[in-house]
Amino acid sequence: MKEEPSAYDRFRERYDEGRVPWDDPLPPPEIMALADTLTPGRGLDLGCGYGRAAIYLAQRGWSMDGVDFVPQAIAVARQRARAAGVAGRARFHIASAAALPFLAPPYELALDIGCMHSFSEELLLGYRAEVLRLLPPGASYVLFAHLRGDDEAGDDGPRGIPEATLLNLLGGDFILERVERGTTRVEDKPPWNSGWFWFRRA
Ligand SMILES: C[S@@+](CC[C@H](N)C(=O)[O-])C[C@H]1O[C@@H](n2cnc3c(N)ncnc32)[C@H](O)[C@@H]1O
Repeated sequence: MKEEPSAYDRFRERYDEGRVPWDDPLPPPEIMALADTLTPGRGLDLGCGYGRAAIYLAQRGWSMDGVDFVPQAIAVARQRARAAGVAGRARFHIASAAALPFLAPPYELALDIGCMHSFSEELLLGYRAEVLRLLPPGASYVLFAHLRGDDEAGDDGPRGIPEATLLNLLGGDFILERVERGTTRVEDKPPWNSGWFWFRRA
């Protein structure tokens, strides 16, 4: 029986082969708009990839930590931060977003652009514990996720999370201030339901 590649293997393979459709010099417009509304502080980018959001925010005065479990992604993020002259304000770490013992609170902002939506239940619990530990009450937490129905297996292509699972995971500890649902296309695959979620730590 052929074993399914792990999420790590799938992402590592993508970076090795340069199949990185989220590679862009700029972060999504939602992040740029956010930067216009918040006072710079300490920010955390979970599943940062090549660091486009962390570097953008560092250029606007934020002190950023980006985390990704693929070393190739972090190597490029560090190189790009140096090239942008913000290596001192955008630090990048090779780590699982569900285990961040080397980071200390408080962060005023956490971003997750397409990371946790592919997590197993166990990883989601570790991730939740870290976000709760690192964000104090009042902190912003902005999340982009592919969304799937409860009964969709989600075992091919980019994974998604049922919206109810996402809201149950964070509910109680985070106030959902705004949500924008839409669809996203990844490569030549059919469009996926997706959503931007703006939370505040209760
Ligand atoms: C869709 S990409 C988005 C990258 C980046 N946020 C951006 O918008 O450019 C998702 C990223 O999450 C990372 N990732 C997935 N699972 C992870 C985990 N358990 N811990 C850390 N990073 C993870 C992947 O390596 C990948 O770089």
